[in-house]
Amino acid sequence: FTSTATIDPAFVIAPVPARLFGSFVEHMGRCVYGGVYEPGHPAADADGLRTDVLELTRELGVSVVRYPGGNFVSGYRWEDGVGPREQRPVTLDTAWRSLERNTFGLNEFMAWSKLAGVEPMMAVNLGTRGVEDACNLLEYTNFAGGTRYSDLRIGHGVRDPHAIRLWCLGNEMDGPWQIGQKTATQYGQLAAETAKAMRRIDPDIELVACGSSNERMPTFGSWEAEVLDQAYEFVDYISLHAYFEQTPANRAQFLASAHTMDAFIDGVVATCDHIGAKKRSRRKLKLSFDEWNLWYESRFVGQDNLDWTEAPRLIEDEYTTEDAVVVGSLLMSLLRHADRIGVACLAQLVNVIAPIRTEPDGKAWRQSIFHPFALTARHARGEVLRVEPTSPGVPGADGPGAPSVDVTATRDPETGALTVFAVNRNEQDSGRLDLRLVTDARLQVVEHQVMGGGELMLTNSQDAPDRVTPRASTQHELDGENLSLVLPPVSWSILRLE
Ligand code: AHR
Repeated sequence: FTSTATIDPAFVIAPVPARLFGSFVEHMGRCVYGGVYEPGHPAADADGLRTDVLELTRELGVSVVRYPGGNFVSGYRWEDGVGPREQRPVTLDTAWRSLERNTFGLNEFMAWSKLAGVEPMMAVNLGTRGVEDACNLLEYTNFAGGTRYSDLRIGHGVRDPHAIRLWCLGNEMDGPWQIGQKTATQYGQLAAETAKAMRRIDPDIELVACGSSNERMPTFGSWEAEVLDQAYEFVDYISLHAYFEQTPANRAQFLASAHTMDAFIDGVVATCDHIGAKKRSRRKLKLSFDEWNLWYESRFVGQDNLDWTEAPRLIEDEYTTEDAVVVGSLLMSLLRHADRIGVACLAQLVNVIAPIRTEPDGKAWRQSIFHPFALTARHARGEVLRVEPTSPGVPGADGPGAPSVDVTATRDPETGALTVFAVNRNEQDSGRLDLRLVTDARLQVVEHQVMGGGELMLTNSQDAPDRVTPRASTQHELDGENLSLVLPPVSWSILRLE
């Protein structure tokens, strides 16, 4: 089958937001302990930070990292994780039923962020705590000195403020699983009051209010509306979270996950703008898609950590080639919404539903989903262009209009260089994509890489870390302004022209 599209630099959605390529480090399972931090590991530096994980984080192209949770933050006392290590208590992490040794905390995370070259995105606890503790934390991180908490930081050996700009006002506060769950009215009020107080301490911060935990929550839509009714003026972003999973019955639907993501994003944008219009506000809120990924929740049912151990193995999903295709397409959905999404975080970074895996005393390796993320973060440069492909629907995906082929493109306005991303979700057939390129520049194809289109269930492992990688393709033809490429069944492609 054939799909067609025009790529025209006149149709710009928005510049590619640098913060679109974020990730997430939660005190959960082996993300922190045994992931980013493993004192005594041969690759650990003097502070216990794994340099092999740092290297892979930089290679992944991560721009911003959310910390310390997630569900974890809703029961967390940040003070337990600062100051001399030998004085830090062992505490109960009630979110994941784990023992928290607190040997890694705020200042260790900030040191790690600097080495990784990422911007921190800090979450405050609005589950068991509230306005006062959020203010104390901000005073500790961002106030120059001469006050109780800023001097405490200085006493902990950190003279200059951390100057953290991006803050999450709690996490998934609508979830029955959340420690300190709230109604939308309770949370909206708390978020507004916390935001007001935090801005008095530091007017330069950017604040994210919690949206629904996912699109399937019974209050999705009304939660956002009620929270924003109260907090619209005081926050900059509303959050979205989404995890996708393949089951034997839903493969076509799974392959079309990005189509579901598009609709989810559009729904949240509509709700934000509805409240903005009601308030006669000229300010448009941005979206923070601060947790997204594939999560095979059904594999881990009943695997709660009932024994209160430290850093248990929790949700260490192993991703296949097919998963990489879907992750590539989810990134295309995020790019397409670059005008409204200001932040997005692949959840999580290491071991826990993650692109990077490690073993104790062993190696760090790239999972399949590492590759589409790294290629997109590296090559989605400049501006996102609006591309409207014609394509037949996906056979078997319910819901109207999930196209077999999806296409997104970015263009560097300085050089005219184009990057085209394309996915074919058809399980049987190769597609041909005919693109018309509107451009004055004489462009050449400099790179064409594909994932998928063959054996789809392969995974990487410590012993076979490069079993699933992108492969170079020559299946394209450029003739003047006409570019054709072959999209193998169930594949994700990136093609660069300079
Ligand atoms: O990323 C794992 C968990 O998923 C997070 O802690 C929570 O916010 C979400 O439900």
